[in-house]
Amino acid sequence: MGGGVLITGTDTGVGKTFVACGLAASLGDYGYRVGVMKPAETGCADKDGELFAEDAARLKEASGCREPIEKICPYRLPEPLAPSIAAERAGVTIDIDHLLAVYNEISAQHDITLVEGAGGLMVPLLPSYTYADFAKVLNLPLIVVAANRLGAINHLLLTLEHASGKGLRVLGYVLNQIDSPLSLAAETNREVLANLSAAPCLAELPFLENMEAKNLPPDWFKERFAFSFIESALNRR
Ligand SMILES: Nc1ncnc2c1ncn2[C@@H]1O[C@H](COP(=O)(O)OP(=O)(O)OP(=O)(O)O)[C@@H](O)[C@H]1O
Ligand SMILES: [Mg+2]
Repeated sequence: MGGGVLITGTDTGVGKTFVACGLAASLGDYGYRVGVMKPAETGCADKDGELFAEDAARLKEASGCREPIEKICPYRLPEPLAPSIAAERAGVTIDIDHLLAVYNEISAQHDITLVEGAGGLMVPLLPSYTYADFAKVLNLPLIVVAANRLGAINHLLLTLEHASGKGLRVLGYVLNQIDSPLSLAAETNREVLANLSAAPCLAELPFLENMEAKNLPPDWFKERFAFSFIESALNRR
């Protein structure tokens, strides 16, 4: 059984997939067998009569994980809502035991499995069951991705506080600049956060014009990420 990490965020659209793909590709380059999972993906468009899970497809490509998309992303749902309500409205029952079993299967084949959440840590997978609960039952440590802009301090600290209240281990957070141009807040957030949180900042990622993660030079992530977190993510289950 390999290690695992839940890549969560302070919100939807903050760069979880971008970061997870960058980590997956880098860890692969470092020689790790990288598994990926997106337990539930919502807002999936119809493609050739099937619901296409774009995040899951990107994670699979970046990691080279050979598991079928049905395992990487067991619940693919059409409406852009939290998984619990998207499933309910689609007449689908999300089975947590099934997700846990699939995670264990993927994890058994890889050194490390990166699991991307949906939205933030308190987004529900079931009406009364959040991604924090899922991380807890799997003993998955977290990497929290935050949009580096005005508001990030509060969003990040609230997320870290909730993680701590749930007894979750936080490997660190990523400040990802998804807006252009660089704001005064983005320039100063890192320093402010360092005084308020014991969790390390693993990377501060700049805004990329016309971004296509797969077109980045191979070492782009490696040069910007503090990969020392990986040791404590491995073999800790
Ligand atoms: N550093 C960056 N510079 C420029 N664009 C970025 C950056 N990081 C992410 N983006 C863009 O922002 C958008 C959201 O990123 P991403 O899909 O990774 O977010 P997410 O948190 O995974 O969203 P979701 O909640 O839908 O899963 C994407 O279009 C992505 O290409
Ligand atoms: Mg995503």
